[in-house]
Amino acid sequence: MKKALVTGGLGFIGSHLVDRLLQDGWQVSVLDNQLTGRPSNLAHHKENRALDIVEGDVRDFETLSKVTVGCDAVFHLAAHALMRVSLGDHRADLEHNVIGTLNVLESMTANKVPDLVFASTSALYGEAAVVPTPEDYSGIQTSLYGAAKLAGEGYASAYTQFAPMRFWAFRFGTVLGERCRRGAIWDFERKLIENPKELPILGDGKQSKDYLSVKDCVDGIMLGYEKSSRGVNIFNLGLQEQTTVNQLADIVIEEMGLLGVRKTYSGGPRGWVGDNPVVYLSVEKIKALGWKPTVSPAQVIRATARWTLQELGGYRAPS
Ligand SMILES: NC(=O)c1ccc[n+]([C@@H]2O[C@H](COP(=O)([O-])OP(=O)(O)OC[C@H]3O[C@@H](n4cnc5c(N)ncnc54)[C@H](O)[C@@H]3O)[C@@H](O)[C@H]2O)c1
Repeated sequence: MKKALVTGGLGFIGSHLVDRLLQDGWQVSVLDNQLTGRPSNLAHHKENRALDIVEGDVRDFETLSKVTVGCDAVFHLAAHALMRVSLGDHRADLEHNVIGTLNVLESMTANKVPDLVFASTSALYGEAAVVPTPEDYSGIQTSLYGAAKLAGEGYASAYTQFAPMRFWAFRFGTVLGERCRRGAIWDFERKLIENPKELPILGDGKQSKDYLSVKDCVDGIMLGYEKSSRGVNIFNLGLQEQTTVNQLADIVIEEMGLLGVRKTYSGGPRGWVGDNPVVYLSVEKIKALGWKPTVSPAQVIRATARWTLQELGGYRAPS
């Protein structure tokens, strides 16, 4: 039985990846500090002896050096992904995402773990001048989060030069699905439950993104991992169909059964510093390996909006 460590496995994408690894017959250890993740995301595996959950931090090398023993692969998803928080705490991304990744690499080297699969991000392309943006595009960084992920990729690539290790990076845009507890849908529904007459939108609502379902994301990670074998393997994962924030808001409003909602805008093309107005990734490279997304943006937005509404306790129109 192959053994994997999933850092950040209690989080949104990490917990879906754990589902998939267990389904594929892996023995899985999760390391998570519960910064944003929660045990309830994996509660359905409570009786599964192939899963072991360790509460711990990737900033702590000692813990990592224990949990990587005997692993065939580390799926490193733990991250501080709170872009707006890092504007007030400039060390957060460095510590969680760069030092954390360095600790992962060091512990893997010490324990001779051969494969590192890394959750990277389209944020590292900045405001890309080329769309669809290919993997070899290099842009100016617009967020500390993107800069830290780029540094993580850089360190991992360099380790492959001297450590017996292969590296996969998957750069995704915006991923949606069940267990996603932040981002536009979560934010909009919370605001609309509070005031169903008005929806304040950050930016001008014209930001356009490629909303990818978590199922297609996890399928892409596993397919890319299994079907490529270079020292360094880097793939974008996204949809070729663009959706604006306004379109997403309309679906959310419809799913909540609201009428006559007035949308207001904070203005400007960006919702916050580091919000790249257009995220449109070239996915030719992963498609050439046979990856084919199965869920449309409208489907995943609608499904996530429904799940979120349930999670937030639902909305009842005043009678
Ligand atoms: N969700 C997206 O749209 C998206 C897009 C691009 C990249 N990513 C990347 O994918 C990965 C998963 O993202 P997600 O959306 O599931 O986020 P998430 O916040 O739900 O998951 C991150 C997990 O990492 C854990 N964590 C954070 N810091 C840690 C630390 N220092 N030590 C141990 N655990 C720690 C959190 O508790 C959480 O469970 C992240 O690396 C993120 O940067 C996500």
